[in-house]
Amino acid sequence: MLQISAPAKINLSLEVTGRRPDGFHDLVSVMQEVTLADELQIGTGHGLSLETDSDHAPQDQDLALRAAAALRSQIGGTVGATIQLRKRVPVGAGLGGGSSDAAACLVALNELWKADLGCTGLTKLAAGLGSDVPFFLTGGTALTSGRGERVVPLPEPRESWYVLVNPGFHVSTRRVFEALESDDWTSGQETLRLAGDISRGGAAGIGVNNLQQALFRLYPGAETCFRSVERLASGRVFVSGSGPTVVAAPGDRGAAQQIAQAAADLGYWARVVRNYPTEGRQLPCRV
Ligand code: C5P
Repeated sequence: MLQISAPAKINLSLEVTGRRPDGFHDLVSVMQEVTLADELQIGTGHGLSLETDSDHAPQDQDLALRAAAALRSQIGGTVGATIQLRKRVPVGAGLGGGSSDAAACLVALNELWKADLGCTGLTKLAAGLGSDVPFFLTGGTALTSGRGERVVPLPEPRESWYVLVNPGFHVSTRRVFEALESDDWTSGQETLRLAGDISRGGAAGIGVNNLQQALFRLYPGAETCFRSVERLASGRVFVSGSGPTVVAAPGDRGAAQQIAQAAADLGYWARVVRNYPTEGRQLPCRV
C-alpha cells in the first residue's frame, strides 16, 4: 500500500498563443504546485476499484481510475488496484486536482505493478489523460507549452504565499477555451520572461492569464469573486487556469491570512498556501 499526496497547481502565468488543427489550443504557462493536496492510498488488488469521500465524478470518468486503466492496458497484464481518494482540492476549479490524482496514480502503480516506465513512457500516458497531467510528473515549478504536455522544470522560486479563493461553482475548461476570441491570444513573451526570472533565482512574480476574459464572459460570478479579492489584496490577483479559483499573491504569510479571513467572511472558500516542496518526492520527470 502506498500513501501519496497529489498537490494542486496554480498557473502563475498562462498565455494562449493560437488554435491547433486538433481542436486544442497552444499555450505557454508557468505552473506551480501548492500546499493543498488530495490524499491517496493505493494498493494492489483484484480489478480496479475507487473509494472516495467525494461525489466529484461518476466512477468511470474519474481521472485516477482512468490513469490506472491506461497503465494497465499499456503493460497488458491482469494486475489490479484499489484506490482510496480523499478529495481536498476543489473540483472544476482551475487547480488541476483531478490531473494531479491521475499523475499520482500513474507513479504509484508504475512502482506497485513493477511496470518500470520512465519519464517518456509515463508522459505519453499522462498526455492521453489530460493536458495538465504531464506537469505533475515534474511537479514543483515548471514551464509548460504545446497543449500543456511539454514540461521544462524550473528551480523553486523563493518562498511565496498565496491565497486561493473559490466562489463555489464548477467551470467547464472546454467551454472556457471555446469562448476564447482571437483577441485573447498573445505571443507567450510575458510568460517566458517570468520563467526567465525564476530561472535566474528571482521571486515568483505573476504574469497574465488569457483565459480570464473568456471565463468572466461565461461566468459573471467568477468576475465578482475576482473583483472582491482584488479589493482585499490591493492588486496582485489572478485567476488560476480556466478558473474560477482566484489567487492573491500578497507576499507574506500574515497578509495572506488576513485576506483569507476577509474572503471567508464574504462567504467564499479560502485557503492560505505556499509552494509545495519537491524534495524527497518521487517525480519521474524532475531531473
Ligand atoms: O486536456 P483536457 O481534457 O484537460 O482539456 C479539456 C478541454 O479544454 C479540451 O477538451 C479542450 O476543449 C480544452 N483545451 C484546449 N487547449 C488546451 C487544453 C485544453 O483547447 N491546451
